[in-house]
Amino acid sequence: MKRFADKVVLITGGNSGIGRATSLAFAKDGAKVVLAARREDLGQAVVQEIIKAGGEAHFIKTDVTSQPDVEDLFKKIIVTYGKLDYAFNNAGVGGPMNRLAKQTLENWDLVMNTNLRGVWLCMKHEIQQMLQQGGGVIVNTASTAGISGSPGSAIYSASKHGVIGLTKSAAADYATKNIRINAVCPGPIMTPMLEEGFNTRPAMREAYLSTVLMGRFGVPEEIAGAVLFLCSDEASFMTGYSMTIGGGQTVTP
Ligand SMILES: NC(=O)c1ccc[n+]([C@@H]2O[C@H](COP(=O)([O-])OP(=O)(O)OC[C@H]3O[C@@H](n4cnc5c(N)ncnc54)[C@H](OP(=O)(O)O)[C@@H]3O)[C@@H](O)[C@H]2O)c1
Repeated sequence: MKRFADKVVLITGGNSGIGRATSLAFAKDGAKVVLAARREDLGQAVVQEIIKAGGEAHFIKTDVTSQPDVEDLFKKIIVTYGKLDYAFNNAGVGGPMNRLAKQTLENWDLVMNTNLRGVWLCMKHEIQQMLQQGGGVIVNTASTAGISGSPGSAIYSASKHGVIGLTKSAAADYATKNIRINAVCPGPIMTPMLEEGFNTRPAMREAYLSTVLMGRFGVPEEIAGAVLFLCSDEASFMTGYSMTIGGGQTVTP
């Protein structure tokens, strides 16, 4: 019996990087996977990969910053499956790095709207559904940038500190309602987001690597494993926590 047989999971940003790896891992373990993101071609490619391997998945084109899109996403999930067991609120953007006084309002809006408003909007609908059905599990993607600061990343870091705040307070709101809510805090993970950052600022590669005690970047599957654990019954007494997965990053000052 697969661990997540008959379970339904929503993964925002499921068409790339960490979300893609988590979608594949859930499907392999028996879950029906709903991927939500904007790029349909990438989303359908992941769906096909899952179906070819014998799993079940749907892509629903969604901009997580848009309330109508998010409402439509949840309507479609309920029409198709009638329930939502797990949600991984993972869609996010890095935005251009720069010292705070050189940052723009456009970047503030892009990063905050995606990383914070998008997570909150999705959580609101997930929790409404989970309350109706009697429970569920939510995992949010924060970052080690949600635990500490670093040069050039004030806006991103503020958004990820915010994700941890949402996670803790929502966990407190619903701890007695059989809804567990936790976050993962990845260190540097080799995904298109990180590669794009290294392409525009090559010196970042060495600078980031020097912060990781294990001396290497992570791979998306190393985050997927933690998300599946947090959703599983093995994590049944965990809520409101942020799990750091960063090869030792943030351990030393
Ligand atoms: N890679 C790292 O080192 C690292 C470290 C810590 C935390 N994180 C976090 O991990 C999460 C996933 O990032 P990744 O590294 O896997 O990068 P990625 O491959 O670039 O994935 C980002 C995902 O977010 C989706 N997305 C962005 N804006 C969206 C929007 N408005 N509506 C819906 N989906 C949107 C993208 O899909 P579309 O563009 O198609 O919409 C894509 O699927 C992010 O929250 C990121 O901040 C990454």
